[in-house]
Amino acid sequence: MRLLAEENRPIRNRGGSLTRLMAAIFMIGANLGPARPLPARAADNSAKPTITEEDRTKAGEIFSERCATCHGADGRGNGPAAANLKPRPIDFHNQSWQKSVTDDTMAKAIIFGGRAVGKSGQMAPNPDLEDEPAIVAALVEKIRKWAR
Ligand code: HEC
Repeated sequence: MRLLAEENRPIRNRGGSLTRLMAAIFMIGANLGPARPLPARAADNSAKPTITEEDRTKAGEIFSERCATCHGADGRGNGPAAANLKPRPIDFHNQSWQKSVTDDTMAKAIIFGGRAVGKSGQMAPNPDLEDEPAIVAALVEKIRKWAR
């Protein structure tokens, strides 16, 4: 309430503008500071969503329908469409690739496509999954299981 009252004061109040200026400088400073958590979105929300069995089932269906054609049903990167790709999809069973990539990077690749993470643009985006963090997490989980 007090803040609201201050906000409504006439501009000629130099003290008020100075406060606002200081606040603006503070905010610019804060933005230049160490990386801060971004607003919660599927791709960059590091707070892990809870994955239900339903999410796992849905992720399994999505993988068969959309991903297996390139990545192969067992994630070896040998789906029917893989032969024509350059570079070929990675083998998800490859341990050093598994170690090189974070869950967030995978989620970003799945939602925004390969180009968003500096990989092949042939890795297509799945914009409909942007609002489905649990399904994306279930896809990542599925891919992680191939590491073992
Ligand atoms: C048209 C073929 C194609 C389809 C469909 C496809 N991908 Fe990919 N994907 C690729 C290729 C090619 C790469 C890797 C290219 C590279 O290493 O530069 C890739 C890379 C990835 C990566 C690794 C990103 C990284 O940072 O290393 C993940 C994770 C992935 N795909 C998941 C999926 C999932 C999940 C689906 C289905 C929703 C899917 N992909 C559908 C071709 C495809």
